[in-house]
Amino acid sequence: MDRIRIVGGQPLHGTIPISGAKNATLPLMIASLLTDQTLILDNVPRLADVVQLQRILGNHGVDIMTSGKRPGDDEYKGQTMHLSATRIVDTTAPYELVSKMRASFWVIAPLVARMGEARVSMPGGCAIGTRPVDLLIMALERLSARIDVDGGYVVARAPDGLKGGEINFPKVTVSGTHTAVMAASLASGTTVIENAAREPEIADVADCLNKMGARISGAGTSRIVIEGVAKLHGAWHKVVPDRIETGTYAMAVAMSGGDVVLDGARPELLQSALDVLALAGAEVSATNQGIRIARNGAGLRPVEITTEPFPGFPTDLQAQLMALMTRAKGTSHITETIFENRFMHVQELARFGARIHLDGETATIEGVDRLKGAPVMATDLRASVSLVIAGLAAEGETMVNRVYHLDRGFERLEDKLARCGADIVRVSS
Ligand code: EPU
Repeated sequence: MDRIRIVGGQPLHGTIPISGAKNATLPLMIASLLTDQTLILDNVPRLADVVQLQRILGNHGVDIMTSGKRPGDDEYKGQTMHLSATRIVDTTAPYELVSKMRASFWVIAPLVARMGEARVSMPGGCAIGTRPVDLLIMALERLSARIDVDGGYVVARAPDGLKGGEINFPKVTVSGTHTAVMAASLASGTTVIENAAREPEIADVADCLNKMGARISGAGTSRIVIEGVAKLHGAWHKVVPDRIETGTYAMAVAMSGGDVVLDGARPELLQSALDVLALAGAEVSATNQGIRIARNGAGLRPVEITTEPFPGFPTDLQAQLMALMTRAKGTSHITETIFENRFMHVQELARFGARIHLDGETATIEGVDRLKGAPVMATDLRASVSLVIAGLAAEGETMVNRVYHLDRGFERLEDKLARCGADIVRVSS
């Protein structure tokens, strides 16, 4: 298993290219099941989760062709992926595949919408919480699907097709909103989704679906209206830049000091996080190329934040901000409201000498003068990268174990940081 070795203390200078968003790419790939024509996705990041989803879609009969680099492209250019679900050969998503990646449960929506039936393994909990799928099921029921649970599988049936309906989510859910939008695109009649998630990835997927012939309005707001159509067609779509990767590198620069341009980043996708970084003392500015982030010499100020659905501060940047605040001059408070158990990084950050106290959903972080490198490991993607951020500022050597978590969601992380001067290498074993 690979590990990442970091020797902290180097400021970061240069340019970091931002990849396509993982959390848009996954539902976009799943949307290919909605049509028998070819969906072409551009700017697809090279990530373990993308490879895993290719396997899952392949099992349903989706033919996938990826082209990587053409002459003249640099190594950071995303992949172009052609997905053709001409014939769906299997409407079952088995446990062995779904248990490896929760988002693969979302295939239930296009499968039942297009084929009238889907049998998808329950995803189960994961390191960041119980993560139930009750609201996804509720959304499909509102669209007239019949749902049974049988031997650990959710079976959705709509032999006469889905019918538009009213869906009012009692809680903001990204997975529920993706499911509802995809299913309603091929339902007969109108669907109205209230209290929809407003994450940029929802708008990006709706944008692609509209290019495929869907009639969706309001995506990116909390009320989405979908006029169902009988058939969708092929399209070309470029994946939106990854706002979580952007925020992660912004925090890395705030932590190490230096001056970096995040190439291709879009500030409006993570304004709340950029505001927090500015409050903490980083210099943040929008440029033609993306976002410039700098911190030279000045100490970090502590912050108080609560994670919230978009446009609030994202849960996917909570661990990274906590790593940053371990070096602030004073006491910070971070409250996690999206997932009930997303604090696994706390114990690991303590190995660097961080002082963090947990009380329910709130972490109190007392900034320390220095962190010391240590061997660490984490159990989820964002927690792992928070350890990299701590390692960049820690004295001496840090060894981050279980790097496969990082490979799920960060393309060439060590390479992107090393090019800006970080002392970081992947150690293969
Ligand atoms: N929830 C329910 N019932 C449901 C669905 C969700 O109670 O049927 C709860 C969840 O347990 C959670 C909350 O609602 O407490 C929000 O869950 P949501 O559905 O919004 O999250 P998700 O779709 O499962 C996506 C991202 C996550 C990100 C969250 C929140 C993808 C593939 N995953 O998850 O990303 O944290 O939205 O923004 O888009 C990551 O990339 O590391 C990651 C975990």
